[in-house]
Amino acid sequence: MNKAITRALLVCALSIAALSVWGAPGPGDIIPRPVSFTSGGSVYRFRKDGKDIKIKSADKALRRELTSLSLPDFALDEAYRLTVGKDGIQIAALSQKGVLRARQSLAYMESLSEDGTIEQCTITDYPRFSHRGLMLDISRNFRSKDFILKQLDAMSRVKLNSLHLHLTDGAGWRIEIDSYPELCNYAAWRTADKFTEWSRGGGYARKGSEGAYGGYLTKEDAKEIVSYAERLGINIIPEIEMPGHCAEVTAAYPELSCSHKDANGIPIQTPTPDVCPSNEKTYEFFGKVLDEVIEIFPSRLIHIGGDEASRRAWRECPSCQELMRKEGMTDIAELQSYMTKRIEKHILSRGRVLLGWDEIMEGGLAPEATVMSWRGTAAGAEAMAGGHDVIMCPMSNCYLDYPQDEPSRVPPAFGSYQPLKNVYKFNPQPEGVDGAMLPHLLGVQGNLWTEYVPTDEHAEFMLYPRAFAIAEIGWTPQEEKDFDNFRERALDLVDVLRADGYHPFDLANEFGDRPEAIHPAVHLALGCPVKYNIPYSTQYQAAREASLTDGVRGGYSYYDAVWQGFLSDIDVVIDLGKVQDLHFIGASFMSQMGVNIALPEKTEAWVSEDGETFTLLCTTFRELPDAAQTGQCFVLYGEVVNGRGRYVRYKAFRSGKPRHDWLFTDEILIN
Ligand code: ACM
Ligand code: ZN
Repeated sequence: MNKAITRALLVCALSIAALSVWGAPGPGDIIPRPVSFTSGGSVYRFRKDGKDIKIKSADKALRRELTSLSLPDFALDEAYRLTVGKDGIQIAALSQKGVLRARQSLAYMESLSEDGTIEQCTITDYPRFSHRGLMLDISRNFRSKDFILKQLDAMSRVKLNSLHLHLTDGAGWRIEIDSYPELCNYAAWRTADKFTEWSRGGGYARKGSEGAYGGYLTKEDAKEIVSYAERLGINIIPEIEMPGHCAEVTAAYPELSCSHKDANGIPIQTPTPDVCPSNEKTYEFFGKVLDEVIEIFPSRLIHIGGDEASRRAWRECPSCQELMRKEGMTDIAELQSYMTKRIEKHILSRGRVLLGWDEIMEGGLAPEATVMSWRGTAAGAEAMAGGHDVIMCPMSNCYLDYPQDEPSRVPPAFGSYQPLKNVYKFNPQPEGVDGAMLPHLLGVQGNLWTEYVPTDEHAEFMLYPRAFAIAEIGWTPQEEKDFDNFRERALDLVDVLRADGYHPFDLANEFGDRPEAIHPAVHLALGCPVKYNIPYSTQYQAAREASLTDGVRGGYSYYDAVWQGFLSDIDVVIDLGKVQDLHFIGASFMSQMGVNIALPEKTEAWVSEDGETFTLLCTTFRELPDAAQTGQCFVLYGEVVNGRGRYVRYKAFRSGKPRHDWLFTDEILIN
């Protein structure tokens, strides 16, 4: 039960004296769960003047004790001991950062208290990882300084210590740069406010022109964010995307694009989504931009993006092709590596370290780069094996733009079901990463892309409570994690945030996973062999040949290893073992916006007694639900039939022209 409700019930049930002991919040109620704590069995009442706190910020005894545990430096830096006793509060730490973390724990317990009391207790605490982050995309839909400051407050409650701002992307440039004024006068503005509308063919607009949507952080805004964050023990990592996701840059400065030949064979330059890596102007541009960014943001890590460059124009560009010849490159990805290495030299010369999405490994990783592993954790493990620092944020668990509940109950979202539980279960330390590699694992991050997140309220809805799970993954020892216990604490914190004017997801009324996925399906074809006339995709093979008759139904996520994927029509034959009466044949299909998973145009069920001669039993058409256009949906293609046979041939035909979409199904149900 929600802790707040438990306490309210106790208020009714117990005398005031007893209530204080049992009802007061303590260290077992906060996120992240502290490394160790004991409760004093009595309560402490906060003094109004706040003069009851004694602080030792360089406590020698605590240092000796924690050093004997061989804690890494970053953990010592944030370590604290908080003692809440009968007469007052003591904070011991090894640095001001540690004092801050103790104060955050104290403030958290106080925020949960309804009567000004908390448990007497002793907490000894330090983080598992040095990087506990969130990423916020403010390009796709701009978010203001005030919104960012508000989220820093929420982050500090749970000791998150890094906010990565995705400042630039094709949808708009969001940071003031003096050297290239067109970035803020043009590239920061577009012709439609909602990204989803704009992305269907919208362009850029001049600042101040009618209907122009956009905006950017001024240098003053950004500096205010940095210094506010610093006071909360949070670092701001700026991201300047290159070489892909640069359509807004080349719209404002077309000379940074590749050249290609027009219909008459004359080389021309038109804006391309990727900048040209063989053009000296590209290096002049990013050199100056990064210098201005570095002046604003003190972050050691400077993010240069690096993801999803199409590299398409580079193949046609005479100067890119010349550079490849000159450098002996055989793979187009080496051009990106060439650029990243040059940019790294520049960043290192300014005393900073380059950070990029895991694509920067393709074609050869820059010597001192740090990698953000988003397409799974394997890239991160490989980078660590090569001696590079890594931050883990795989989309499978850490993408907060994905829907957190049954898709029709939440606003349209990109990607697949990402409930709190799925985020929480993530362990950033892959198997085989230990010993000398472990210090390279900097930590974990949750990423909020905002293509489908147009408003402040919606962004908060996506962030909380899933950001709390990221905080606990990053701080609490893996063996101390417990989802059921965490969920109780998250319910309390959701209430506190809501009372403070945030708009978190209503965790208390979570619907949860697809009901079909919870209990095995029982039907005539259970365990029967399936022959594939057209093979399933090896990318989404699920339980291979057993998949469609194993009784296991898929959840909301197409990559849960239960849904089987086909980049073709489906044509399978199920052998029921003996001739029998058949009353129903059908299968569920998933459709998923944004990843080309579509419903079939139609399905057919055929039946045969000998496996040679089949008779058509039914053809099923379905109207496309609205959700097929805007999010995710599940549709059963099946019919009541009146048939008899041993073999059932089930076919599903892809719709659309060209027929390139995926089909995903989890089970062929026969009764
Ligand atoms: C990414 O999600 N493109 C890093
Ligand atoms: Zn080029």
